[in-house]
Amino acid sequence: MDDATERSERIADLLDRLTLEEKVSLTHGAVDPAGNATGYVPGVDRLGIPELRLADGPLGVRTEDPATAFPASISLAATFDPDLAREQGRAMAREALARDQDVLLAPGLNLIRVPHNGRNFEYYSEDPVVSGRFAAGVVSGIHDEDVIATPKHFVANNQESHRAEVSAEVDERVLRELYLPAFRDAVAAGAGALMTAYNRINGTYASEHERLLREVLKGEWDFDGVVMSDWFGTQFTADTANGGLDLQMPGVRPDEQLESDGTADAEDDGDDSADTSDGVAERFADGLPDPERGDYFSDALQSAVESGEVPEERLDDMVARLLGQAERVGLFDGDRGEGAVDTPDHRDLAERIAVNGTVLLENDGVLPLADDADVALIGPNVDEAITGGGGSSETEPVVSTSPVEGVEARAEGAVTVERGHERIVPVTLLDAIHGDQGDDEADDEDVDRDAAVAAAADADVAVVFVRDTATEAADRGDLRLAGEQDDLVEAVAAANDRTVVVVGSSGPVELPWREDVAAVLQTWYPGQAHGDAAAAVLYGDADPGGRLPVTFAPEPDYPTAGDERRYPGVDYEAHYDEGLLVGYRHFDAAGVDPTYPFGHGDSYAEFRYGDAEVTGDRTVHVDVENASDRDGREVVQAYVAAPEAPDDLERPPRELAGFAAVEVPAGESRTVELTLDERALGRYDADEGWTVDDGEFTVHVGRSSRDLRDSVTIER
Ligand code: BGC
Repeated sequence: MDDATERSERIADLLDRLTLEEKVSLTHGAVDPAGNATGYVPGVDRLGIPELRLADGPLGVRTEDPATAFPASISLAATFDPDLAREQGRAMAREALARDQDVLLAPGLNLIRVPHNGRNFEYYSEDPVVSGRFAAGVVSGIHDEDVIATPKHFVANNQESHRAEVSAEVDERVLRELYLPAFRDAVAAGAGALMTAYNRINGTYASEHERLLREVLKGEWDFDGVVMSDWFGTQFTADTANGGLDLQMPGVRPDEQLESDGTADAEDDGDDSADTSDGVAERFADGLPDPERGDYFSDALQSAVESGEVPEERLDDMVARLLGQAERVGLFDGDRGEGAVDTPDHRDLAERIAVNGTVLLENDGVLPLADDADVALIGPNVDEAITGGGGSSETEPVVSTSPVEGVEARAEGAVTVERGHERIVPVTLLDAIHGDQGDDEADDEDVDRDAAVAAAADADVAVVFVRDTATEAADRGDLRLAGEQDDLVEAVAAANDRTVVVVGSSGPVELPWREDVAAVLQTWYPGQAHGDAAAAVLYGDADPGGRLPVTFAPEPDYPTAGDERRYPGVDYEAHYDEGLLVGYRHFDAAGVDPTYPFGHGDSYAEFRYGDAEVTGDRTVHVDVENASDRDGREVVQAYVAAPEAPDDLERPPRELAGFAAVEVPAGESRTVELTLDERALGRYDADEGWTVDDGEFTVHVGRSSRDLRDSVTIER
């Protein structure tokens, strides 16, 4: 198998001059002397090889210093505008440069298979076309600014429960049609690195999956970047190196890290989360890797090369990949930009994404609010911005606006604030480590539901901000809002029939009171601009531009519900028996009506669709008229229904093939052109590869997966 990268003269020359020890030092991380990066690979001074610093994303640049806290990835996807993804990629890369970081551990792009997944807020969608376009946008943006992007976690890291051990038992066609495409798009967009998942795929750990890493990624897709492990996510030396992993991370054991931080004596401080000796056992909890798995690529790799177990050409390729990316982004010549953090542009972008990612789920006409309405502002955490979920993506912003600050700054009427419910304390990674869901914890502040209900009764309109909580390393136990917030909403709605609920959640949630309230907005985790973005949408300064990148339904209706084999798995095997029928593909095939379908989102404007037409091979045109007196933002979506496949092979009833977001001024029309993804016409055949069957494909054009306005056909 020849999957070695092409080498520049500089890199070929360096490979000749590097000693074996030096080469090995470039295949694993070490302690960051600056103590700021998530990961660090030392350089080789004598040969002018630069060091490399790696910082977490994907919601912002995570170092010791603050940075712009962008809306969660799922909120970015809800904009259905990949140009915003590219802008966010650029902005994060500029912030990375300003913080002296060279590699961003972003984007996260695993498909949302399980609604409970604790990391859904770090991912994009249940649909591979949406996931792929957003991943590609972020990757291109990061590389535009000469920082290395690291799409993660390759592949099938679709749950946090048992993530370090579980095997995704998934057949080739399903992998190819659902779980791999977004990674392929990220690679095609030029990603310089890629992070493997903790889990196994059909029994083999992702970090040593020779077929996926060497045959598919580096072979078929021509990936010439660096394959790195997730943190402590390797298990072997020779098998892993020969399997295609190029860089083991973090490459240091926790005790080495603690020594370098000067906290190695933490045993004595009574906090076992930082306790080195117990900490290992403590941290090796479900959903976490064994932190002793830190050391497979240092001396062990050197011995494996010396004994011939790992060919020296493989080692050279590992090193060449790393140096190739360093050269590509200008690290040898030091000619990169300086970057900047928390600029006015970045603040503005964080707010634009939050606004355009806000989904209007319901509205009986109460929204937008009148400027001078008297508002009762209610919610356990109404005085703080939701800047993200728990885990490695936590980003501390320089500035943020809470819902109270945002609404008070915008309102011309009276604003009364009553929390009405004990503060929800978000679940953290540490809670996950201790096996604690954490989300129902609350502080003992004195809060009074009656006062909130009374404030609601007195106001023109009640606006209730509610939330869930989620973290890396644990899945949500259910799809409910945290604590007793459902009761709070019911009580407020009973007191004021003009009640608006603003939901901040990591993914799908159940909204049992939705028919009792006047409007529901979904903001996801909106980041630092939470308050300003919510106020802009509530008062109609902007059309709520978002659409759902995931289906909302009651928990028992999802395809992974009530079937342990599928989720969270039995004997550390999760069987993807639902096959292709994930998300809306399942609801459509089963004929089950979801609460809110994939692609759904109302607007303050009203759109009429003309007749769809198709030109060329697969370009669809449709006129969209804004028949209202307000400017609006529409997201036009095209779903393909394939002709019957031979041998009764299953095809989902309809699959998203293209989409476009368009601003349409009041009373005007726009022609929207959608070039459909060829893959949405095709299916993956184990022998033939991607195959487009002969016959008639119907392309449905509409506002959501269930609000289809017109259709055209394509003959193949
Ligand atoms: C996460 C990765 C992250 C890494 C470094 C892991 O626990 O799964 O997404 O980049 O930690 O913080």
